Amino acid sequence: MMKKITVLLSAAAMIVSSIMFTSYAQDMTPEQQAAAAVDQRKSLFKTIRYNLAPIAGMAQGAPFDAEVAERNARRIAVMATMIPEMLAVDTSAFDNIETTALDSIWDNQGDIATKAQALIDNANAFADAAATGDFGASMGAFRAFGGSCGNCHDTYRVDTD
Ligand code: HEC
Repeated sequence: MMKKITVLLSAAAMIVSSIMFTSYAQDMTPEQQAAAAVDQRKSLFKTIRYNLAPIAGMAQGAPFDAEVAERNARRIAVMATMIPEMLAVDTSAFDNIETTALDSIWDNQGDIATKAQALIDNANAFADAAATGDFGASMGAFRAFGGSCGNCHDTYRVDTD
């Protein structure tokens, strides 16, 4: 019985250490690191979009839910603080990694930070408007908020439309 438990425990320890091991960047090839960086930044943007979707729905006629609108905008404001970090890794050396990020990003980190900050400020301004429960004021603030996405995409992302 004791022996069985010991075997199980050491198997569990091996699984945990192998999971931790593969997450250490120094154990990856440069291409694997680049692929992981692209995967990570896409995940951030997908989660940002997930939070924006209900707000965009409200702008298009879905019932206005001020609480959800404020909450999701505040989430986006926090997530947007990660954008400069996520767009700091130059992944252009590997042609078979799928990305819509333009190479001009790597030489324009200051502007990336400015555009990320604009999103943070506009998301918070929208959240403040939504917190008042005023639909008109919220939609007024939504234009700048939603516009901050396109403002960066137009410059730094392959045109996918
Ligand atoms: C400061 C620049 C910047 C801002 C601001 C920004 N994005 Fe992006 N976004 C990018 C870049 C660059 C990519 C391309 C990432 C890639 O393909 O590697 C991207 C990709 C995406 C993607 C595609 C992810 C995938 O799976 O390929 C979505 C969705 C997205 N952004 C949504 C948004 C939304 C919604 C906002 C605003 C709330 C926003 N982004 C604001 C730069 C930005």
